[in-house]
Amino acid sequence: MTVQKIDVLVTGPLQPWLMSAVERDFRVHKLWLASDRDAFLKEHGEQIRGVVTSALYGAKAPLIDALPKLEIIASFGVGFDTIDLEAARRRKIVVTNTPDVLTDCVADTAIALLLAVTRRICEADRFLRAGKWSQGRFPLATKVGGKNCCIAGLGNVGSAIAFRAKGFGMTIGYYDPYPKRDPGYHRYDNLETMAREADFLMLALPGGEQTHHAINARILSALGPKGFLINVARGSVVDQAALVKALVAGEIAGAGLDVFEDEPTVPPELIKLDNVVLTPHIASGTHETREAMGQLTFANLEAYFSGKPVVTRVV
Ligand code: 8YV
Repeated sequence: MTVQKIDVLVTGPLQPWLMSAVERDFRVHKLWLASDRDAFLKEHGEQIRGVVTSALYGAKAPLIDALPKLEIIASFGVGFDTIDLEAARRRKIVVTNTPDVLTDCVADTAIALLLAVTRRICEADRFLRAGKWSQGRFPLATKVGGKNCCIAGLGNVGSAIAFRAKGFGMTIGYYDPYPKRDPGYHRYDNLETMAREADFLMLALPGGEQTHHAINARILSALGPKGFLINVARGSVVDQAALVKALVAGEIAGAGLDVFEDEPTVPPELIKLDNVVLTPHIASGTHETREAMGQLTFANLEAYFSGKPVVTRVV
């Protein structure tokens, strides 16, 4: 490759392949290792032309403002709610993400959480390990086949969840604020009506201001005591305090959660509950998918600085 050593800021630890590729072709500045972030940005900010970040670390306006020569933000992850797109747009900074390559794994995780919580898999595992099997039978669980699986957000991930859920014999409903080419599933006009008819409410909406607390006490109450909530989207989509309250009070049947409002903090009330399955934001976390995400992140960065169109542009 002919790219010269251009200065790039990396906001947090990257997947090893991506880190070595970026270090091979660029002069790397590691923001997360700086003891004084502001002093570090003052010293190096003037040179930086690219930022490599992730959905987790993002790039907010103060960071963008500290980098006057910034041209591209290449993010590892599909979600861009932690990146200030307006600040980037104003400065004509290109922003890229990693869609498509993680769709299957995120949808798999949604189904895994659904099966785990409805069939009480983790609870049954704890029961067996605690030596309780010899003392009695494990209680019955909930069948997924024949149930109404309702998806909030029928984008790539939502559609992949629908495809899988159909394979398990569920009927599919969806709510999406943007019109879709008829996917052949029942379309609901609003979240509350959908929640009322849903057995399983699956969240695949993007994060950000527009979807903040879209799932609130009202929607949870509509989902009702037999309904399960699955979230592989963003913690911010759910009013977590209302969710905790609904779960503790038995107002919904259970939840499978991969994302939380203040990661990595998880409300202690949730940890105590048996009818929730909790995973630490692992939906895209397979070797194969993380490698593909790393390659796509790098392909965007490399394309930009080689004067070619980036592969997956957000703005
Ligand atoms: C990753 C994600 O865990 O793609 C996203 O938006 O949230 C996840 O795939 C994240 O990018 C890793 O930081």
